[in-house]
Amino acid sequence: MGLRFIFMLTRDDKTVEEAEQHLKIALAAGVHHIGFKDVGLPFERLKKLNAAINAGGATSYLEVVSLDKESEISSAKAAVEIGVDILLGGTNVDAVLPILAGTNIQYFPFPGEIKGHPSVLIGSIDEVVNSAVGLAERNGVHGLDLLAYRSTENATGLMAAVVAAVDKPVIMAGSIGSRERIEIVRRSGAAGFTIGTAALDGDYPANSPKLETQLRSIQRDVAGVNNHLSPHGPKNLKETFATFTETWSPRLAGKVNNSAIKLAKFEGEFLWHHHDTEDEMFLVYKGRLLMKFRDRNEVLEEGEFIIIPHGVEHCPVALGGVCEVLLVGPSKTGNIATDGVGQA
Ligand code: NI
Repeated sequence: MGLRFIFMLTRDDKTVEEAEQHLKIALAAGVHHIGFKDVGLPFERLKKLNAAINAGGATSYLEVVSLDKESEISSAKAAVEIGVDILLGGTNVDAVLPILAGTNIQYFPFPGEIKGHPSVLIGSIDEVVNSAVGLAERNGVHGLDLLAYRSTENATGLMAAVVAAVDKPVIMAGSIGSRERIEIVRRSGAAGFTIGTAALDGDYPANSPKLETQLRSIQRDVAGVNNHLSPHGPKNLKETFATFTETWSPRLAGKVNNSAIKLAKFEGEFLWHHHDTEDEMFLVYKGRLLMKFRDRNEVLEEGEFIIIPHGVEHCPVALGGVCEVLLVGPSKTGNIATDGVGQA
């Protein structure tokens, strides 16, 4: 599983007033992890926001930034009532664990000492690591929420030390606003990271400050960091067939594992042949194709395909003009002609 990007509907540690509109944009952009904080919006709106996140097929996160124990307890209770998937943050683990007991909520508290608003992580790397180890040992703690870039210590060293010390997933929260930082987070071995303010303010490096562009840019960078970038877009058969007129001359359209996808135009009759080791598939895109076998004939209409096992003699014939065919087979198909030479 790759690095997880959690989009926070928050600015400066508060859920933003326009959270609902931003959520629609994020879901349309295909963001699968979406969070908010216990500060900024009234409870009823957070509840509806959470329902909308889940209804959009995304996982919901509530991050607790209230620092006093009473506020944290009410935030944990709110998390249960709202029905969030994952509770991030908070430091009063002893008070929160009983509230979450028996629920399906995953809990990722903050290791270390947190102060102020927006939150800052206090203490040396060793102190934070010790806190992380202690928390990760607890039943009911599923992972950690590390405010790495809010530490006065070296963030890269801190992240690596915490991830190495615990065997539960660690999410890096706060002040991640560039591909360089995402790469550093990835190298640390973190499970995920949050971005809120940078995307909402249009500060993430992208072609435009618009939220949709910001989110797509983050997702592309995350896919790149995860080695999940695909060079392929859709290919249109009608358009590709229109680029050539030669018949019996297959064009390579793509490769899947060891097989080539080829496009060919047939006209008239080919010749009897077989392939010693390669199976072939013929899918008729346009026109009609007669496939002659030694034991029978088959006629393929548009949208039909046929598989020809290796060794089986066959002779393709285009019926009624040019037939457009998608072929699947080895990159190089060796024809053993029965009465001539050719390729099909
Ligand atoms: Ni053939």
